[in-house]
Amino acid sequence: MRLEGVTRAFAPGQPLFRAVDLTIRAGERVALCGESGVGKSTLLNLIAGLDVPDAGTVEVAGIRLDALDTEARTRFRRDTLGFVFQAFHLLPHLSARRNVMVPLMLAGRGVAVAGAAADAVLADLGLAARAGALPGELSGGEQQRVALARALVHKPALVLADEPTGNLDPATARGALDRIFAQCARSGATLLMVTHSPEIAAHADRRLVLGPQGIAEG
Ligand SMILES: Nc1ncnc2c1ncn2[C@@H]1O[C@H](COP(=O)(O)OP(=O)(O)O)[C@@H](O)[C@H]1O
Ligand SMILES: [Mg+2]
Repeated sequence: MRLEGVTRAFAPGQPLFRAVDLTIRAGERVALCGESGVGKSTLLNLIAGLDVPDAGTVEVAGIRLDALDTEARTRFRRDTLGFVFQAFHLLPHLSARRNVMVPLMLAGRGVAVAGAAADAVLADLGLAARAGALPGELSGGEQQRVALARALVHKPALVLADEPTGNLDPATARGALDRIFAQCARSGATLLMVTHSPEIAAHADRRLVLGPQGIAEG
């Protein structure tokens, strides 16, 4: 994954960040830190192709995002990315298992294939017994693991996680993060995770700090 000269401004003449260069090697697990409001979520959205930079280029898994039209960008997100949000964003009326099947169903895989893959990743995350539960029946830590299962089920090359444990108590958060790191290591996925916790960041291969001056190794 490579950013070159990436600039994003929401107000004219007031860039949130300017000319950010960043290369993350395949399989690397990177923590992204920085104060609230510096633009960490914006940076993740640019890498996900959900937002477009005012200058510079974003390349993920060898694909230049600016070269893609809307349809190709949607396909890129579906095939190449897993996204874990702070607030989980599970579909409330679908069981855990059905939630995890969604990325594969969207990719046109059959129900049997999607179900088997969902069962495997839910079992890996210790959730086999909870597969039939609705999100509202799960604890915060369980919902977070379902969200992680959904982000990983299609074996994405890049997992983006935006403060994925922000809504969990410290002990549950630590368990969930151990699982994120372990699962990405296992699948060979590149991980870029926003976190406020120095302790968690210490577990990553690399720590980056985003500030008004740009990105620095931390
Ligand atoms: N779509 C948008 N339109 C206007 N301003 C935005 C938009 N997205 C983010 N911002 C602003 O950019 C700044 C950085 O936001 P964000 O990327 O969410 O920071 P962080 O994730 O580091 O807390 C904030 O001041 C936010 O209000
Ligand atoms: Mg944010």
